[in-house]
Amino acid sequence: MSSFPLISFLIALMLAAAVCTHGGQEPVLDTAGNPVLRTAQYLIQPYSPRSNGGGLLPVPVKLLPLCPLGISQSSVTALPGLPVSFSYPYALMDTYVSEGQAVNIEFKSDAWPGCEEFSKFWEVDESSSASEEPAILIGGKKRERNSWFRIERKEKFVGGNAYKLTTLAGTIGTVPGPWENAPQLVLTNDTSKTFLVKFHRIHDDSTATSTSTSRLEKLGLRMFPLY
Ligand SMILES: *[C@@H]1O[C@H](CO)[C@@H](O)[C@H](O)[C@H]1NC(C)=O
Repeated sequence: MSSFPLISFLIALMLAAAVCTHGGQEPVLDTAGNPVLRTAQYLIQPYSPRSNGGGLLPVPVKLLPLCPLGISQSSVTALPGLPVSFSYPYALMDTYVSEGQAVNIEFKSDAWPGCEEFSKFWEVDESSSASEEPAILIGGKKRERNSWFRIERKEKFVGGNAYKLTTLAGTIGTVPGPWENAPQLVLTNDTSKTFLVKFHRIHDDSTATSTSTSRLEKLGLRMFPLY
């Protein structure tokens, strides 16, 4: 009888922990159907193979100033782009990336075209010169709200794990960019521009894979004549 209060206390504690770590949210799934992890790296790729662009690359999106860089899909559909990792702005124990939670997105690559003084975190352009559909730039800060994105499952979509990336002010979509009109990432409310994506996990535990990845990275960066 004396152990009863302790047991109910422990049950309450377990419930609280479950609510805190998962918040009732679904884990984001990768292309293999496995939960997306904070500890792994992923290629963010267009969901549809018929999309007019490939994986994501850091590119200059304006001339003055050239930095920070923006993000464009490769104009070559077959190029995989550079890997990213997801993390939470504040330390959480959860290793899973959940739908709807604020996450930072950071490019993970040594192959880099310039603007090294900026971080590799994604952010929304909030400068006074930002256009109505502000560019997604690279140079964000983990704790700042314009560097927070949410991953949401695309509703009413059959046959796969299609997601979109959003912020409180809009959805990430694409517009024709400065490089051969390759699709550039912007924040928009225009649903016809929504960039539907999937997350392809990179297995960095094998040297063979990472060698071929960096070869592809170099190939991708060579496409941009400024570098
Ligand atoms: C989208 O709409 C919301 C609400 O009207 C507005 O606050 C936000 O600035 C808009 N975002 C873009 C990128 O147009």
